[in-house]
Parts: sequence; structure tokens; C-alpha cells
Amino acid sequence: MSVSRRSFLGGAAAALGTLGSRVDVFAQSRNQAAQGGAGRPALDDYDSFAHLSSNENCWGPPESVMKAMNSAWKYSNRYGYPDANIVGEIAKHHGVKQENIMLTAGSGEVLDVVGTTYLMGNKKVLGVEPSYSTVYQHATSIKTTAIKLPLNQKDYRQDMAAMIKVANQRASEIGLVYLCNPNNPTGLIVTKQEVKQLLDGIPAGMPVLIDEAYHHFVDTPDYATSVPYVIEGRRVIVARTFSKIAALAGMRLGYAIAPAEMVQQMRPYAMSSINALVKHGGAAALKDTESQAKIKKMTIDLREKTSSDLRAYGYDVIPSQTNFFMVHIGREIQPVIDEFREKKVLVGRPFPPMTQHMRVSIGTADEMERFMKAFKEIFPAKAKTTAAI
Ligand SMILES: Cc1ncc(COP(=O)(O)O)c(C=O)c1O
Repeated sequence: MSVSRRSFLGGAAAALGTLGSRVDVFAQSRNQAAQGGAGRPALDDYDSFAHLSSNENCWGPPESVMKAMNSAWKYSNRYGYPDANIVGEIAKHHGVKQENIMLTAGSGEVLDVVGTTYLMGNKKVLGVEPSYSTVYQHATSIKTTAIKLPLNQKDYRQDMAAMIKVANQRASEIGLVYLCNPNNPTGLIVTKQEVKQLLDGIPAGMPVLIDEAYHHFVDTPDYATSVPYVIEGRRVIVARTFSKIAALAGMRLGYAIAPAEMVQQMRPYAMSSINALVKHGGAAALKDTESQAKIKKMTIDLREKTSSDLRAYGYDVIPSQTNFFMVHIGREIQPVIDEFREKKVLVGRPFPPMTQHMRVSIGTADEMERFMKAFKEIFPAKAKTTAAI
């Protein structure tokens, strides 16, 4: 780096003042993401692994989406270009106005931006553990903390009564409630009645972030999206992503649906630096419901087959509604992750305090066979389990 550029950057950092340390932590987490995610080592022989660790869509984007993205290469050199009306299409898809949508580079950006907006000034985020930890990590990076409640011991579900109690008892400390529905890593839903119970039970006006990254895989009438609460005008932010059912994780597209006033509060903190290709791909993905239905069916079929094979082999599986599941292995997970890795199968990271469970993403039929083969080599058969959990 030239001296003048270095001194310019030095001056800029000084000018940022107290923001500096925050920028450092952001930069650190961005660097981790660029290297394949926190704790994810670079894979020299990427293609030789079964990728069952990050809840990705193993089949990739459908033809319609690839075609739309390919048609957008010609805008690579532009800042302003036809963008397939992506915000308008998302708004139409949900029956909301464009002012209710904040477009982001993956829904991870929504989680960061919501955290920055509502936790600044030492406010805490209230949620459960284990859950998707981005919001909690972000809270730490902006020098605040999370209040993490345990899951129900018996069935690993999120305890709404406990959440409501703490939200009321500690209302003055709390800036945000985080609800991952369905929850990552358990794959369990919070029912539509329970979501209503939560929203009605917490102090009026307390912001609630509902992360619906795995919405599209859910197959039970007990669940419903929380978008109608946004339309009702409640202080609810729904986060959605194109990384899962739409298979665009590497292209980075997500969005928040929220009351216009909340979108305005959040927008100053969003980078929203989204490429031309994925805007076109995302608009096409919203329309290709047929491909999404196929992905959903393949995912559920493979999930149920693998879960029942594991149960027949004697291991309890938490009944998931997503493109991943958890199996109880009865041993600490970290060395097991390494053993699977030696067998060229990547499985999910530790999710404290459930460190004797392994999270497994749904891959292709071949990948799931490789997983089962590795599982049987690593673990002995046990007496058959009949219990779902
Ligand atoms: C629950 C949940 N929310 C958000 C994300 C972030 O995904 P992305 O930033 O790719 O949209 C993930 C990714 O795995 C997730 O599991």
C-alpha cells in the first residue's frame, strides 16, 4: 500500500473515532465469511467432500434462474441498470408495499442491521440457545449481550411462556427479541398460536425479529409465516433468504419485511450491495414455484429416509421441518466432526449446549448414502429406537 493511501486510511480510521473498534470486529467477521465462514477451513479438494454442514441447497439453482442470471451479465459494467424490479416483485409476492422491503446481501445482513439498529446503547437481544447465533455474535461485536433462554429439555422446543416472562421482567434492558422459526439447529417450528402468544404477551412495541430462512421447507399446518403481523403494523421484522430453497447462497440475496417506519430506521445501517446477476436470479426464483416444490419434495423425502435409517440403527433424530436434522450421538460432537471429515463428509458444527447432537444438512441421494455409510463406520448399532425424540 502506498504511503499516501496508508495515511489517508489512517486518518479516516481516526475520524471514525469510537466506531473504530466496531469496524474492527465487523472486518474480522467479514474476513471469516470471505474465507468460507467462521470456523470453516478452506477446502483444497472441495468437490471430493459431501457438503452436509451448512444447510445449503445441494441441487443448485433451476434452469429458469440460471437463464435469468446469464441474461444479466451484460450489466456487469453498470451501476444503474434494469434490475428485474426485484424489490417490486418481492413486495408483490408478500402483498406488501415496496416501502416494507429492505433488500440485503443475504439475510445475514438483515440480522446484523437489525442488531445495529435496535441494540445500540447497550440494549440486549432476547432469544433461545441453541439458535442461529449471528444476532448474538453481532450483539457481542457492538459491546452488548444476549439473554439466552434454554430450550425445553424434553422436546427441544422454544419456550414462549419463559420468553414472555423475561421480556416483561427485563423490558427496560431489552432492545430486540429474536425468534428463529423454524429454529436452526433443531429444525423445530414455533406454532402459529405460539407466535401469536409471544407477540401478544411481550411489552407493546418491543421489536421482534422473526428469522424465516427455512420457511419454504415447512410442511405442517401448525406453522404460518409472520408476514401478516407486519401488515397489521406490529413491530415485527421478518427475515427471508434466497440462500436455501432458491439455492443462491453464493450469490448473496436476502431481505427484511417490516413496517415502513422500521425499514427507515434500519436502512442507514445496511450496505445492500447486491449484484446485478442475483437481482435477476431472485426475481426469476420467486416465479418458479414448480422448481421450489420439487426441491422441497426431494429434501423432505431424503430427510425422512435418512432419519428413519438412523432410528432403525438405534439413534434418536429430532423430527425436523427443514433441510437439516439433528441426531443424538451420545458423544461430544467435535471429535466426531473430525472423524466424518476424514471420511470426506462435512457435518455441522457444535451447537452448545447440545454438544452431543450432530446437525446434518440434506444433500443429494449419493451424499446421504455416503453419510449413512460413514455413520455406521463411526457408530455401533444400538437397540432400535421407536421414540421420535
Ligand atoms: C436461520 C438462518 N438465518 C439466516 C441465515 C443466513 O443466511 P444468508 O445470509 O445466506 O441469507 C442462515 C444461514 O444458514 C440461517 O440458518
